[in-house]
Amino acid sequence: MRRLRRSERFRNLVRETRLSPESMIYPIFVCPGEKVRKEIGSMPGQFNISVDNAVKIAREAEQAGIAGILLFGLPEEKDEVGSDACDENGIVQKALRAIRENVRNLLLITDICLCEYTSHGHCGVIKHGDVQNDPTLKLLADSSVSHVRAGADMVAPSDMMDGRVAAIRQALDSEGFSNTPIMAYAAKYASGFYGPFREAAGSTPQFGDRRSYQMDPPNAREALREIELDIDEGADIVMVKPALPYLDIIARARERFDVPLAAYQVSGEYAMIEAAARAGWIERERIILEATTAIKRAGADILITYYALELAKML
Ligand code: PBG
Repeated sequence: MRRLRRSERFRNLVRETRLSPESMIYPIFVCPGEKVRKEIGSMPGQFNISVDNAVKIAREAEQAGIAGILLFGLPEEKDEVGSDACDENGIVQKALRAIRENVRNLLLITDICLCEYTSHGHCGVIKHGDVQNDPTLKLLADSSVSHVRAGADMVAPSDMMDGRVAAIRQALDSEGFSNTPIMAYAAKYASGFYGPFREAAGSTPQFGDRRSYQMDPPNAREALREIELDIDEGADIVMVKPALPYLDIIARARERFDVPLAAYQVSGEYAMIEAAARAGWIERERIILEATTAIKRAGADILITYYALELAKML
């Protein structure tokens, strides 16, 4: 077995998995204001950025050959039903229009969820202290239509309400957006690895947690059911999230389904690498390459990662 491991040329020749910027998506956090570039404490190297800076980052991503950016919005004001998510002058809508005007060759994808926009921080409407499934669907569909109207190329629902892909598909079709694909966060686990993101997006639930709608981490077969349902409802791309702690789910989804499969290397995965590197305990670049390659090796076609810009330079 060692004959083909003896030089980088040989190793390159027989390499089974390759990373490429064309299959990567870079998440960004857009906030109100001008010239804002505020580093996220638990995600060193990642920032809350105002629309003007989002345009700059989008240009950078385009030049780096990255497939697209995934937009998250930090609204000026939050309320019970997350109104900013559906407002044509909402933060994401503004960012989409500004970026679309300046950047052509980059996919603009938006995270569809209410948690960044609601005062209580949950992903749906609350009644009697509980997240209501069906009343939330209409808002998610309205938000999707609003984002696409403002220039989104694809929407990515991450709320984990039942039936949301069908509701969004129907709304997009009836508004004349039948060509716009949906990338569903199909198997999204109730994970501790989202901690830093909630600081970045100010979306920590004010009471309770997300276990009544996101998946229970010990379950694998259930993930396949979730994915199957989303495909039946019309998802064009399905996602597993987080990525590295759920490589088994990625591998099983790859075996079972033939739709494009995305994996999200989430904020906690990023924060752990950064923290250990800062402490001098790991080789940072080597670990970044190893972790992202592992996610692709498990079967992900598309990689959503905070390292996208940096990886594009490294590769
Ligand atoms: C919104 C959403 C979350 C993430 C993506 N979309 C947070 C959550 O569900 O709590 C997590 C992304 C990350 O941790 O990098 N619902």
